[in-house]
Amino acid sequence: MNSAAPKPRTDRPLLEVRDLNGWYGESHVLHGVSLDLYEGETITLVGRNGAGKTTTLRAIMGLLSRREGTIKISGRDMIKVPVHKTAHAGIGYVPEERGIFATLSVEENLMLPPKVAEGGISVEEIYHLFPNLAERRNSPGTKLSGGEQQMLALARILRTGARIILLDEPTEGLAPVIVQRIGDVLLELKKKGMTLLLVEQNFRFARKVADRFFLMEDGHMLENFPTADLDSKMARLRQVVGV
Ligand SMILES: Nc1ncnc2c1ncn2[C@@H]1O[C@H](COP(=O)(O)OP(=O)(O)OP(=O)(O)O)[C@@H](O)[C@H]1O
Ligand SMILES: [Mg+2]
Repeated sequence: MNSAAPKPRTDRPLLEVRDLNGWYGESHVLHGVSLDLYEGETITLVGRNGAGKTTTLRAIMGLLSRREGTIKISGRDMIKVPVHKTAHAGIGYVPEERGIFATLSVEENLMLPPKVAEGGISVEEIYHLFPNLAERRNSPGTKLSGGEQQMLALARILRTGARIILLDEPTEGLAPVIVQRIGDVLLELKKKGMTLLLVEQNFRFARKVADRFFLMEDGHMLENFPTADLDSKMARLRQVVGV
């Protein structure tokens, strides 16, 4: 036996997804997806375009017209919980399109979603974490760069009290210096004990923040492995993801 192999965990995952199936109308997109995410852990979903990464996040949040399977947060079954109640379980979603309201200021965008779970990060802490948002607190959403919009979308979810945050391609289309800044923020959130589920195609970025990689293909979860194994898995990833 490889002595470096991590011991299997015996504690309960914060988020457990078992045999999740998801549909868009008649179209069956997710086929028995399973994943587990432990408190304080960061995992990254990878897979080629159309593999079902975004759909997995949407299914966890209850945003599909139909889903079946098991989704548990701290052991509580979420599958029958309606979408507007999902956030109360301390889970938040930052979609790829970010959803910043153009006519509202940074601060208005920040204050928009209600605080629904215990222990949300205060506005003061958010401005400390994202100094550029503090500087721009009165600017309208339209004036923000892509990176600032991404940070605002993340900050807004942090304020709700979410302890599990789902982030869909947070670095997409951003300049390297901004990608670095987002990486630093995610590492700070990890230090605060946040639990993160990323979808990320930038492996160089993902390897700095993720503890494990989950590989998806055609709506199926193929395997997961610790980030320490990334180099030895690279040929397999190239084959599946096409990078
Ligand atoms: N709103 C929708 N209605 C119908 N089918 C959809 C819809 N959104 C996505 N799909 C289909 O579901 C499958 C999974 O798409 P999904 O967006 O989850 O992939 P992804 O892994 O996030 O890909 P990408 O890397 O391009 O973001 C694809 O076949 C896609 O065409
Ligand atoms: Mg996607």
